[in-house]
Amino acid sequence: MLEIYDIHKSFKGLKVLNGIDITVDKGDIISILGPSGSGKTTLLRCMNFLEKADSGKMIFDGKEYDFGQISKRQIAEIRKKTGFVFQNYNLFLNKTAIQNITEGLVIGRKMPANEANEVALQALEKVGLADRRDFYPHQLSGGQQQRVAIARAIATNPEIIYFDEPTSALDPELTGEVLSVIRKLADDGMTMIVVTHELKFARNISSKVILIEDGVIVEQASSDEFFEYPRNERTKEFLKGFDI
Ligand SMILES: Nc1ncnc2c1ncn2[C@@H]1O[C@H](COP(=O)(O)OP(=O)(O)OP(=O)(O)O)[C@@H](O)[C@H]1O
Ligand SMILES: [Mg+2]
Repeated sequence: MLEIYDIHKSFKGLKVLNGIDITVDKGDIISILGPSGSGKTTLLRCMNFLEKADSGKMIFDGKEYDFGQISKRQIAEIRKKTGFVFQNYNLFLNKTAIQNITEGLVIGRKMPANEANEVALQALEKVGLADRRDFYPHQLSGGQQQRVAIARAIATNPEIIYFDEPTSALDPELTGEVLSVIRKLADDGMTMIVVTHELKFARNISSKVILIEDGVIVEQASSDEFFEYPRNERTKEFLKGFDI
């Protein structure tokens, strides 16, 4: 469904992505792990063109795109098929939960307002927040805000959703509700790439796990292989830091 070849990105001479390849099949749940500063966020942002990669190739639904010279029209075409969930939710603070979802549908997708409302409400139901539809972000817990952000991502019916550490801004007691919403999406067959430090969750949910260090892939394997039989010494070292 989606392939990335040899993606490179530097920030003012600092090499952050140094030739990463990823293959995503429909229904895959890919966890991306790695130490702080290894390039995980940059990779996801480049894949969704929130950041411009220097070079590399993307194949999405059989169409080829060049990261080095992609047009606005091509970016819009790809973004129609993707959703993105940020660490800090990125909700509009002056809009209610439902308005945060309808905004993109009406303005971005030109959906009639009444239809957008219906779609948004269904998405809120999916994340268990239909009763909070008229609450503003400051009236919601962090976990609830992140669930609204997830509802916003699913409302556009994407082919893939990217999550960048969706629970790392949350207090531990709120992490579970967000992870269980993500798990439910996984059970529904949603294709996802999840950057996370929640290794137990990653082990549980993922079809593939990728470890990134210094902008390159150290190890890429099925979840079982990765956690039970890591091949690379650096993977073993990385896993030692976690209670899995
Ligand atoms: N906009 C930017 N300008 C300059 N340098 C940046 C920028 N964004 C990221 N970097 C640098 O790129 C490197 C990788 O950052 P990135 O945010 O991708 O890491 P990460 O793996 O997501 O880390 P974390 O686990 O802490 O979120 C870091 O050295 C960071 O300082
Ligand atoms: Mg990050």
